[in-house]
Amino acid sequence: MTLNSFSRMHRYRQSPNLRKMLSEHKLHRSDFIYPLFVSERLKEGKKESIKGLPGVFQHSVKSVLDECDRAVSKGILSIILFGIPELKDLVASQSYVSNGIVQTVIKKIKSKYPELYVIADLCLCSYTSHGHCGVLKNNKLDNDETLLIMNKIACSYAVAGVDCVAPSGMMDGTVQSLRRALDSDGHSSVSIMAYSSKFASSLYGPFREASGVSHSFKGDRKGYQIAPTQFKEGLTEAALDFEEGADFVIVKPALWYMDIIKTLSEEGVLPVVGYHVSGEYSMIKAASEAEMLDETLAMREAMLCLKRAGCSLIISYAACDVVCDSDY
Ligand code: PBG
Ligand code: ZN
Repeated sequence: MTLNSFSRMHRYRQSPNLRKMLSEHKLHRSDFIYPLFVSERLKEGKKESIKGLPGVFQHSVKSVLDECDRAVSKGILSIILFGIPELKDLVASQSYVSNGIVQTVIKKIKSKYPELYVIADLCLCSYTSHGHCGVLKNNKLDNDETLLIMNKIACSYAVAGVDCVAPSGMMDGTVQSLRRALDSDGHSSVSIMAYSSKFASSLYGPFREASGVSHSFKGDRKGYQIAPTQFKEGLTEAALDFEEGADFVIVKPALWYMDIIKTLSEEGVLPVVGYHVSGEYSMIKAASEAEMLDETLAMREAMLCLKRAGCSLIISYAACDVVCDSDY
């Protein structure tokens, strides 16, 4: 220790080049997974904006392909698909049909962009008339009956050519059930990105509009998602999903749950994916529209801090906008 050691920091920080050279974290295109909503109701090149999620759209088949063009040209390597069917019912029957909206889009995207890593969100909520993530029996979620339907969905996505399925319904035993179903159907190369640590959050509001469940869904998901008070449950869910065969674990929402991200990434067992959810995105958008902060800087800072906390990958609606190989 020299006497003037306290003055090192200003020497580290004064040169822009040295700041870049010493930077511990950088954002790269390959860090991001870009979410896309496809609606069976929309035809030809149509797309519709989403209330509460500025800059994000529900797409038709043609317009989602155009959006993939844009994403690929920006260097994005992976997308995650969310489907909105025309018909909803009590048993989510449109979720596993071979000509369903997601199955159709997977086929088209994979034939146009064989390299693009295509993930499909796997849940029942946009397919059920009541908007819950599973089927109900006596007004309660029927965990095991839901698993059987999820197995069918996974296999139908696999047949369509998906690279990875992302079960988001928080049913117990999902990963094991899906892994077995996929393997025994000859799809052992399809990965599972589990929404392991998914909290019952207030930050999903705009997404429910985007995924077309806001009209049908009354109530909450506290019966199956983790309460925001539960740190250990967040870790336990991830550990269970690892045991059951998950290839990745998602923490969701991301920023308010960075303690979970940090801890899981330090365990270093599976790649940790942070889902910067709709409410997190929309807060920045709204504040910037009100000229309270700079959108690009705020988005980048959020993403960068998620990397610092240990995310290997980030799911973000702003993926196409923040990727710029930026040195912070
Ligand atoms: C539903 C699902 C939700 C999100 C992804 N999948 C919402 C919910 O659980 O109600 C939220 C994503 C976001 O807010 O961006 N399975
Ligand atoms: Zn759901």
